[in-house]
Amino acid sequence: MMAKFCVLFCLWFCLTDAIDIDALLNSMSLEEKCGQMTQVTFDVIQKLPQPADFDENPVNLTLLEYAILEKNVGSILNTPYNVAQKAETWQKIIKVIQDATAKSRLRIPTIYGLDSIHGANYIQEAVLFPHSISLAGSFNPELTRKIAQITSLETRAIGVPWNFNPVLDVGRQPVWPRLFETYGEDPYLAGRMGEVYVQASQGNDLKNRSNVATCLKHYIGYSFPF
Ligand SMILES: *[C@@H]1O[C@H](CO)[C@@H](O)[C@H](O)[C@H]1NC(C)=O
Ligand SMILES: *[C@@H]1O[C@H](CO)[C@@H](O)[C@H](O)[C@H]1NC(C)=O
Repeated sequence: MMAKFCVLFCLWFCLTDAIDIDALLNSMSLEEKCGQMTQVTFDVIQKLPQPADFDENPVNLTLLEYAILEKNVGSILNTPYNVAQKAETWQKIIKVIQDATAKSRLRIPTIYGLDSIHGANYIQEAVLFPHSISLAGSFNPELTRKIAQITSLETRAIGVPWNFNPVLDVGRQPVWPRLFETYGEDPYLAGRMGEVYVQASQGNDLKNRSNVATCLKHYIGYSFPF
């Protein structure tokens, strides 16, 4: 009885929040630590040439295992071939990445990040929304809140827990070609929209599969004039 209880307790405990970060860090080699802090773009693991069929998994398993198992890479970003993929294809991509990760010594899940910046724009048939400059023009944070929730839900549904948005560079130069990705020239409005976007995307619980982690970007060396 006691043994059974201990096994159950351990299972519950081990599968929840019981990871001892200090012990894990102490067990890692320098190469493993450097690898965990390395994020590579999808190009590094992609099949070439691009498969004609959008149902085909675009991951080259040889390249994937080299990155994850030989180089200890901890994170991957971007969409294959710079085009939107089917939701089913994304799920295949994330599955083979996590399957490869499960063969690694430490089995720390690989973090995948994607730029869902005006809706989940790299998922076919996801809802596309206006870019941030137009949302700022509405002066309506509630719209931003709803859009962030829909974008998070659709991004998380393909197995991606991290969205590289919102862009919080203040747009100062109208001829800068990426001005449309900002919330414009007013720091108060940009800050307010950014706050609402982050809160609505992350919620209070990242285990909730409607939510994603966000990334405030780009700041240093970005925007124009610098
Ligand atoms: C996968 O990558 C390996 C190593 O570069 C290469 O030899 C092989 O042809 C690639 N396969 C595909 C389908 O791209
Ligand atoms: C998960 O988050 C969504 C959106 O923030 C919310 O509507 C839902 O109630 C949450 N689910 C749970 C189980 O907390």
